[in-house]
Amino acid sequence: MDPKLKPEAHDLFPTPLWSVDLPPADAGPLNVKLKSEIEHIIAPRPKVPSGSNWQTPQDLHRRPAFAEFVRFVEMACASVAEDLQVAQYPMIITGCWANINPPGSYHPTHNHPNNYLSGVYYVDVPAVGSHLILQDPRPGVIMPRAKLGRFTANVAVAPVKAGRMVLFPSWLRHHVPSNEGSTERISIAFNLMFANFAETISAPMWRPSAGNSDASDGTP
Ligand SMILES: [Fe+2]
Repeated sequence: MDPKLKPEAHDLFPTPLWSVDLPPADAGPLNVKLKSEIEHIIAPRPKVPSGSNWQTPQDLHRRPAFAEFVRFVEMACASVAEDLQVAQYPMIITGCWANINPPGSYHPTHNHPNNYLSGVYYVDVPAVGSHLILQDPRPGVIMPRAKLGRFTANVAVAPVKAGRMVLFPSWLRHHVPSNEGSTERISIAFNLMFANFAETISAPMWRPSAGNSDASDGTP
């Protein structure tokens, strides 16, 4: 037997994360405008416990002042839908809100139930200590290795900066560590879901095979 015979590796079960950066010439003016609108919405700021943050109502996508931002979300979502081969099923924004995280505040682990895609856009980010941390969705993975690396990690870090949007499946659990900077972190989060899920998507994708009343998509 050929001693050089070597099994080939196949990476299974990929979990996608998309990111897109506005060119600085576009991000600068947009972020100034978004920041001012967000400040306006939460003024006067209510008191919040130490370590927590301020959030706006979840209807920013319906406010004219956020129309340009909504176009950016829709553009990014259309591209992601192409990647996922669901572009034929229109999606709508189901919620969109801003977060203002002062130094020391964080978001604990969560996901965004009842949605298909979620995302965050960064309006203002302190120089240090701001990332989005995505958690390995595979339960019970244990991959001992001699060195730490992508096969041993149970979280993935998405670096963020002003002008960047990240999108991910809504089921993917994530958290935001404490703001270690000296300025506020301002972001806008959003969720998207199919506009006509029950009518267009939830019907079976397979047909019963001839002579077999069990539905089957041909997979064993
Ligand atoms: Fe989130």
